[in-house]
Amino acid sequence: MIPITVVKIDPGVEALIAEVLSSGRLAQGPMVERFESLVAEMCGTRHAVAVSNGTVSLVAALQAAGIGPGDQVITSPFTFVASVNAILESGAEVRFADIDPVTFNMSPDALATRITDRTAAVMPVHLYGQAADMQSIMDVIGDRDLPVIEDAAQAHGAESGGRRVGSFGLGSFSFYATKNVSTGEGGAVTTDDDVIADRLRLLRNQGMRERYVYEVAGHNYRMTELQAAVGIPQLERLEEINATRRRNAAALTEGLASAPGIVTPAVREGATSVWHQYTIRVTSDSAVDRDAMVEGLEKAGVGCGVYYPRAAYDYDCYRSNPLVDAEPCPEAERAAHEVVSLPVHPYLSDNDIEKVCATVTELASGS
Ligand SMILES: Cc1ncc(COP(=O)(O)O)c(C=O)c1O
Repeated sequence: MIPITVVKIDPGVEALIAEVLSSGRLAQGPMVERFESLVAEMCGTRHAVAVSNGTVSLVAALQAAGIGPGDQVITSPFTFVASVNAILESGAEVRFADIDPVTFNMSPDALATRITDRTAAVMPVHLYGQAADMQSIMDVIGDRDLPVIEDAAQAHGAESGGRRVGSFGLGSFSFYATKNVSTGEGGAVTTDDDVIADRLRLLRNQGMRERYVYEVAGHNYRMTELQAAVGIPQLERLEEINATRRRNAAALTEGLASAPGIVTPAVREGATSVWHQYTIRVTSDSAVDRDAMVEGLEKAGVGCGVYYPRAAYDYDCYRSNPLVDAEPCPEAERAAHEVVSLPVHPYLSDNDIEKVCATVTELASGS
């Protein structure tokens, strides 16, 4: 079986874990600070505030931006559910702007049709590792005073217009087990704004700067020293990790060139992708539909995944929620029927890539 993801622990991790264990300090401390410097460096921002996971980092970013009940936040309808849940957790309403069919990211034109006087923040998602069109999104926002929270959970090191994701507004990252950089569970918020960074650090630590002196009602959003130790060596070799994924993606695209009805992923001009996922569309010109493609791949020993099987609003629990605007987004719904992600992780061999491409091509050809 060629797995869709492989998690391997970097050689440097054991020494860092030993350092943490012998220090006797497991909760947030100097290792988390080292981790934060590397995350800030990855984004080119003044600050990175590490937290316990990527959902919490979205909630903390929304709170730090002053979003709460009565506000409306626009996000992508084609995302992991955490983007939606974080907005609801903040007490705000969720509205969706449909995706661009080529990049799967929020379409700036769709955003222009959904933005109103009630919009309080915009949350683009850099899906599958490709940077959303941040320059155009910022143009649509124009001189409205709206915070932008980038859900960069899947896009460590991706760029839009030569600028790193997470540096346009508040950036939110996940370091969940299967992400390009993983700490098992983990997250971080990035920002250039000193005041926002200070608020994030307060919120993360029960609202206190000094022990038992509470300045705001906060929470425990802290990351542990052990999580940080696992992530540091990966952040140090992030460029190498992403380059390997990029090479694998190029080989997959070349190998799938003759597969009928298969649309391989494209990177927008001016953007980069760090290839968290390599996601094809199985269109009606293929001999099999997406679900049969998934079945055939699994039978042949090729791991794959459907990210995501439905638009984010297309569940009873959200359709019945008065805080969720379920106005249809046809491109997200079409993508949900057509996408399948193939293995692109750094541990694929040339033979693995050949097998993935041959299997997809055979299935799509009906042979
Ligand atoms: C787009 C997106 N947003 C948010 C999250 C939430 O991150 P976490 O699982 O670390 O809470 C994820 C993680 O899977 C994600 O893919």
